[in-house]
Amino acid sequence: MSEKLKIGVFGGFRGQTMIDVLLDHPDAELTAVCDKYTPLLSEVKEKAEKHGLNVALYESFDEFIKHDMDAVVLANYATEHAIYAVKCLYAGKHVLSEVLPCETVAQAVELIEAVEKTGLVYAYAENYCYMLHTFEMWQRYKKGDIGTVTYGEGEYIHDCAGIWPQITYGERDHWRNNLYCNYYCTHSVGPLLAMTGLRPVSVVGFECPPPEEMKRLGAYFGAGLEMVKLENGAVLKSIHGHLKREPGSVNYELYGTKGSMETGRVEGTQPLYVYREGEQICHGEWESYTPELKIEGEMARNHVGHGGSDFYPTHFFIQRILGRPEGKEWTIDVYTAVSMGLCGIFAYRSVLEGGKPMQIPDLRDPAVREAYRHDNKCTNKAIAKGEDLLPKTSYGEVDIPDEVYAHVRQLWIDGKPGE
Ligand SMILES: NC(=O)c1ccc[n+]([C@@H]2O[C@H](COP(=O)([O-])OP(=O)(O)OC[C@H]3O[C@@H](n4cnc5c(N)ncnc54)[C@H](O)[C@@H]3O)[C@@H](O)[C@H]2O)c1
Repeated sequence: MSEKLKIGVFGGFRGQTMIDVLLDHPDAELTAVCDKYTPLLSEVKEKAEKHGLNVALYESFDEFIKHDMDAVVLANYATEHAIYAVKCLYAGKHVLSEVLPCETVAQAVELIEAVEKTGLVYAYAENYCYMLHTFEMWQRYKKGDIGTVTYGEGEYIHDCAGIWPQITYGERDHWRNNLYCNYYCTHSVGPLLAMTGLRPVSVVGFECPPPEEMKRLGAYFGAGLEMVKLENGAVLKSIHGHLKREPGSVNYELYGTKGSMETGRVEGTQPLYVYREGEQICHGEWESYTPELKIEGEMARNHVGHGGSDFYPTHFFIQRILGRPEGKEWTIDVYTAVSMGLCGIFAYRSVLEGGKPMQIPDLRDPAVREAYRHDNKCTNKAIAKGEDLLPKTSYGEVDIPDEVYAHVRQLWIDGKPGE
């Protein structure tokens, strides 16, 4: 294929990141953007014109998807990715999906089958797998530097209370206000699954006490914790959410049969520590260094948001569509994406059952899918009915009055932080 790939972006807030990469990328052309919030479209128009491009702008997805393009980046609501990914795939477009992959297990089945039936590329934009430190860990694990995984930890602590008005706009039904503790788990567990390439087989979940101030901001759920068992018996701990700490913490450690790797918990420059055992047991060597951007360093350096990670999901997606080896090697496929998401979905079922271990189904196997095809359990009343509708916290749901959302909306309009 000699022409540039024509790519559209659905969702122009987080989608700005992908828009910026596409505007710079030699193998792709940003052709269309869709967002119902028109000020974002005006920003895109201005940016595209500076690049000499005329990008088609849409407020409606149904119009956008008819546009002549090869692929779509989904940066819409985090609970609606599978629904729109399926629509895009059946409309003949390759898909790059922001986090999370799906809201329910039924959606996971539908998504996998859409990818299999269409044969198109689906890639999961879990950018935390491509941070300076995590991407280096992934590459070194693949080389066998620490042997086979036995234990790992992933941590994504981000207290969003201060920016809550700016990321929920005072909308009662915004997905961030309807989350439960374990849902947003792929920033913490995802990199560990990508690095090891192993499937999670069971999970035990926990919910930490919800912060009281979030009641004033329109949401009420605690930080989530998943203890995940992998197919080789290794155990992973994944923790994420709003705990008290500024700046937040994005850290990982991975133990293997021959050594370990861990990120520098409080240092700011993303250093990595690697221990490798030598010939004699309990004797080995440490290395400590700040990894460099190795792949397409020059372009990647222009898009270093989120710890150096924001360039790679889009870049590898493009390379994957073009059939290039680095795209095949480093994109996260639909099976791994769904495995990452299912850790949180099943962890919450464990929370609601007092910490009972839950099996995570292997949806690669078509026979396993049947039992989950209609599994709609979630906290979203538009999707789950009757007993399928789960409470948003295990600490007792609270009724948040409309005045709270009106106040948060005013804070957003006034450009003020959460209080
Ligand atoms: N990977 C990361 O580091 C990272 C960081 C921030 C957000 N995200 C992800 O990005 C996605 C979007 O989050 P966000 O922070 O941009 O906030 P958001 O979810 O509030 O924004 C989504 C945007 O999509 C638009 N949109 C949604 N549905 C639409 C529809 N049917 N028609 C037209 N427009 C529609 C909205 O108007 C909005 O501008 C989420 O999935 C989130 O998880 C990822």
